[in-house]
Amino acid sequence: MIRRVVWIRPEKDMGDVVPLFKKNFIISGHVKKAALQITALGTYVARLNGRRIGKFVLAPGFTTFDHRLQVQTYDVTNLICNQKNQLSVLVGKGWYRSRLVGWQSSEKQNMYRKNPAGLTAELRLDYDDGTTEYIASDESWTVEESQIRFSEIYDGEIADGTFCPSVRKQAVVFDGPTETLIPQEGEEVREQEHVSVKRIFVTPKGETVFDFGQEVTGYVETQVTAESGEVVDLSFAEVMDKEGNFYTENYRSAKAQYHYTCSEGEQTWKPQLTFFGFRYIRINAFPGGVKNAVADNFTAIQINSDMRRTGWIRTSDPMLNRLFRNIIWGQKCNFVDAPTDCPQRDERLGWTGDAQVFCRTACYNFDTERFYKKWLGDLKADQRSDGAVGFVIPDLLQAEKPSAAWGDAGVICPWEVYMAFGNPDILRKQFESMHLWVDYITSATTVPGLWAGGEHFGDWLGLDAPSGSYKGSSREEFIATAFYAYSTELVIKAGKVLNEDVTEYENLYQTIADKFRETYTEYQTQTECVLAVQFHLAENPQKTSDQLVDMIHKAGDQLQTGFVGTPYLLHVLSDYGHADLAWTLLLRKEYPSWLYPLSKGATTMWEHWDGIMQNGDFWSADMNSFNHYAYGAVADWMYGTAAGIRPVEEAPGYAQALIAPHPDKRLDWFEATVMTRHGKIVSRWSQEDGRFRFDIETPVISTVVIGNKTRVVQPGRYVLYAADDS
Ligand code: BGC
Repeated sequence: MIRRVVWIRPEKDMGDVVPLFKKNFIISGHVKKAALQITALGTYVARLNGRRIGKFVLAPGFTTFDHRLQVQTYDVTNLICNQKNQLSVLVGKGWYRSRLVGWQSSEKQNMYRKNPAGLTAELRLDYDDGTTEYIASDESWTVEESQIRFSEIYDGEIADGTFCPSVRKQAVVFDGPTETLIPQEGEEVREQEHVSVKRIFVTPKGETVFDFGQEVTGYVETQVTAESGEVVDLSFAEVMDKEGNFYTENYRSAKAQYHYTCSEGEQTWKPQLTFFGFRYIRINAFPGGVKNAVADNFTAIQINSDMRRTGWIRTSDPMLNRLFRNIIWGQKCNFVDAPTDCPQRDERLGWTGDAQVFCRTACYNFDTERFYKKWLGDLKADQRSDGAVGFVIPDLLQAEKPSAAWGDAGVICPWEVYMAFGNPDILRKQFESMHLWVDYITSATTVPGLWAGGEHFGDWLGLDAPSGSYKGSSREEFIATAFYAYSTELVIKAGKVLNEDVTEYENLYQTIADKFRETYTEYQTQTECVLAVQFHLAENPQKTSDQLVDMIHKAGDQLQTGFVGTPYLLHVLSDYGHADLAWTLLLRKEYPSWLYPLSKGATTMWEHWDGIMQNGDFWSADMNSFNHYAYGAVADWMYGTAAGIRPVEEAPGYAQALIAPHPDKRLDWFEATVMTRHGKIVSRWSQEDGRFRFDIETPVISTVVIGNKTRVVQPGRYVLYAADDS
């Protein structure tokens, strides 16, 4: 870590203009190794001799800044010049000083707005002769206005390529944070795919729109030849409206600006300190006129936390393949240092409920251990002393009362990460936070054994919501108590892994389960049935899942569940002999279903089942994201039940595996691959001469369940058939 933290800032606040810090230095001798440690109050881009240092976009990341601010270390040996060197650093507002959260009153927004655009840095130079020199932030650094005239998370970036600073001043030292500095903990956010323009069209309103054919999170790079002073101005959108016009209302107050004043000649520009969520751009201004813009002028660049891909699903059904692809993109687009609800509107926050429902899927798709470790570190740091966990982490909302199924992320996510990667460290780090959450409920409830008297989001966006409400009809206290039981169960399991005494929680669990059964003798909604079975609370789970089947049939073979019930819906059906109905729901193409949005051109997951209704109308303008990963949680059923690949509690992280596929005749074949820490597991089934053939590849001892036959197999490849044992 930085030996002596010295924070520097511009003498006078530059307002919206992004300051550029510079330090010139001369080296004498040959540098064997050069390493820069740096962090900022805002988002920084550092360069050495004009070349970008590292690949981290939006460094130092999005943490709970009151408690944790990451410091990055970069090896810059290759960027050092022989004699004269210049270090330069832009510091934009980033997550630290932008007007987060968008819909809050301005007093509540910009928690750190009054703090200066500061940085602290230390460059260590190790010479060949064994000596070491440090170039650290201090008053000898200069600050000037940069070409970035405005940069903000929701509102985009305005840059002027013609701007030349006339004033350069000495930086000023100030008292910045020291106690909260921590080494980089998460994955770096980096540029990923480069996406080209797929289609250009003019809307009925006469506007020129470029379509990248894919929702991305990131920015657009413009390559253009221009006269000095000409302008590129773009707007961003996820969808076109019913009439085919450019639609931005669902961005709410997020201005998402892209305004660039060109310098003379050929040039390339992209925003550096912000990001956008979009599929389409509207060309508002372009050198020589909008008509001059061609596809090659623009490239969309996807950014996300740099996680290794570990999961793949391929099937004989092109629509299922498309759905899976959308789930992957939904994850990428919302894993930008924190697991966010959406990447486009004035929100982009680490909503805990969304994170919790998607966590298992996320851990199949990508190696997310490091990503979650960092975010859960923020969750723990932001957790109130009474154990309450916020709606969002980093907790910019500071709600007084936490919500069930949202706060439970503090228990569910560590457990899922442990199961997927097998490392008990995550439980060790989070155990206190996990049981504190359960303790919070115990102390906050007005009726022991239930979670009564709280305020919750309920089955958020459930289709059985009374008209005008966002909350499905499932009873809030029912949901809250069910999650209370589930979190207590996970605290017991985690405690046992860690050899903790969990007697208190075992007793509590029994009290909750008894009280639940005594209070809820009948189930009124699909989600209530789902939770009662999934969390082992139903007196007679078979009967309750049969009741669920009836409810689904009565609704016309349609799901009515929201954020809370949907992730477990198919599991509950297939666990109790109704895999055929689970498949019916998954393969359903009409509204409401996972496949319906594909008929409306979705390239990521939607927030609402009916984000775009059958008649082309939008659900609403105030809350309608087309890039919300939550319903993508269905992929954990595709991996874990359809293909049947699951970790087991006795040997987590796939030290051993369970492989129990649930094939369906409506598909010719289905295949899932998971790159575990122990090697590759593949489960594929296909139809062959009227029966199912199973191709299984496993690197570990696995329990394979085909139909009603269970066998334990050694590492290897197997071909099995449903009817016999060849
Ligand atoms: C977010 C959701 C979140 C919800 C909770 C919304 O604004 O986008 O995904 O979970 O609020 O109420």
